[in-house]
Amino acid sequence: MAATYIRCASERHLTRESAGTLIQGVLPQDGQALLSRFGGSVQTVYLDPPFNTGKRFEMRARVGERGYRTGAPALALPAYDDRYESHEAYIDMMRGTLALARGLLKKEGTIFLHIDSRMHAPMRLLMDEIFGENNFLNEIVWAYQSGGRARSYFPRKHDTILFYAKSRSYYFNLKAVPLERAQARSNHMRRGVDEDGRSYRAITSGGREYRYYDDEPAYPGDVWDDVSHLQQKDPQRTGYDTQKPVRLLERIVRSATQEGDTVCDLFVGSGTTAVAAAQLGRRFLCTDQSPLAVASTVKRLSQSGAGKALPWGFEVEAPCGPDDCAVEAEVYPAISSYTVRLLRFDSPAAREAGLEGLDAVDMWSAGFVQGDVYRSCVQSARSGATPALADTLEMPVCAGEPCVLLVDVWGNRRFYLPRRRY
Ligand SMILES: C[S@@+](CC[C@H](N)C(=O)[O-])C[C@H]1O[C@@H](n2cnc3c(N)ncnc32)[C@H](O)[C@@H]1O
Repeated sequence: MAATYIRCASERHLTRESAGTLIQGVLPQDGQALLSRFGGSVQTVYLDPPFNTGKRFEMRARVGERGYRTGAPALALPAYDDRYESHEAYIDMMRGTLALARGLLKKEGTIFLHIDSRMHAPMRLLMDEIFGENNFLNEIVWAYQSGGRARSYFPRKHDTILFYAKSRSYYFNLKAVPLERAQARSNHMRRGVDEDGRSYRAITSGGREYRYYDDEPAYPGDVWDDVSHLQQKDPQRTGYDTQKPVRLLERIVRSATQEGDTVCDLFVGSGTTAVAAAQLGRRFLCTDQSPLAVASTVKRLSQSGAGKALPWGFEVEAPCGPDDCAVEAEVYPAISSYTVRLLRFDSPAAREAGLEGLDAVDMWSAGFVQGDVYRSCVQSARSGATPALADTLEMPVCAGEPCVLLVDVWGNRRFYLPRRRY
């Protein structure tokens, strides 16, 4: 007998206190609901929107145990479409989203808008319009070496991050982001040792000598060339196009927030901001329109392997995938626990892609449903470290009805009541 498909409005992955909320939604259309729940509560917003490139972006997904063992991506899945009807349509989307971001911020809040040379000029004007010219703080240049090398103009090797405050009483702490010593000292400076034996580098300007001691911290300026882009084989890589490195977000989160503050990313993609925020003891509020982005973010937040406690608790709100699958799952009671077995998953998409067995399942969890809220207890997710999916999970007895969540390689999230074997 097949497991019964049900709908849940939200998921709680909470083996401890919640570090944040992840919502699948389209902006700015879904913004009003966000504002009414979270308005005025966010300390900093980081936005890495589509850059109006006119391209479609993909997620190169590893599939099944073999895909994860070999590391070979098997499917190129559509992640997001960066084609707009017109320049105005793109600007309208960004105007609505930036206004929403402003509404989410506290009075002391700040915003970082990541953009490249294509939309930099209109975005600078839009930021002035929405946040006010007086609240402009920096135009950060993130310079990197990766990518192609143009020949008909100088290779474009930087992105721009526009940094604005909501008001003049904003929070910012440069001292929270000291540079590592090796990166901190510029080598065109003269080396010296003072009368106390302290080594320094010095530069003379306007007849005055400026000394930078090796034992004193140095801090980044507005050109960041010490944070490399993700390399092809970087273990952080999820396969999601346009993924940014965690180190970039760490600098932003550390400088603009304190522990316990909320960091918001309305275009979270593969989940970089959520991971950086959680790792640094901040809360997160993240959204994205793509089911693959939600799936990737959840996976990165849960990377602790089958049956182990999650590193952070978090909540997810995403539409359910369609009821078009054949699923078999069973639940067996023991004295103070349940054993849940996943026996079969078959969907039209899996069949079309030629996936067999549980290959189309990228992650599943067992837990309990109460009303339309699913509470996950244990989960198994494929990763390089755990390529095989556990087909059996044990969970303690909790309130509610035993339920499983299956996430397929396309990012669809579906809930089922397993067949009771008692
Ligand atoms: C450049 S990517 C973000 C990458 C991310 N910073 C990372 O490190 O993976 C932009 C994201 O914006 C999402 N997006 C595009 N338009 C959107 C919209 N109107 N509402 C919500 N999300 C959108 C896309 O699905 C995509 O994941």
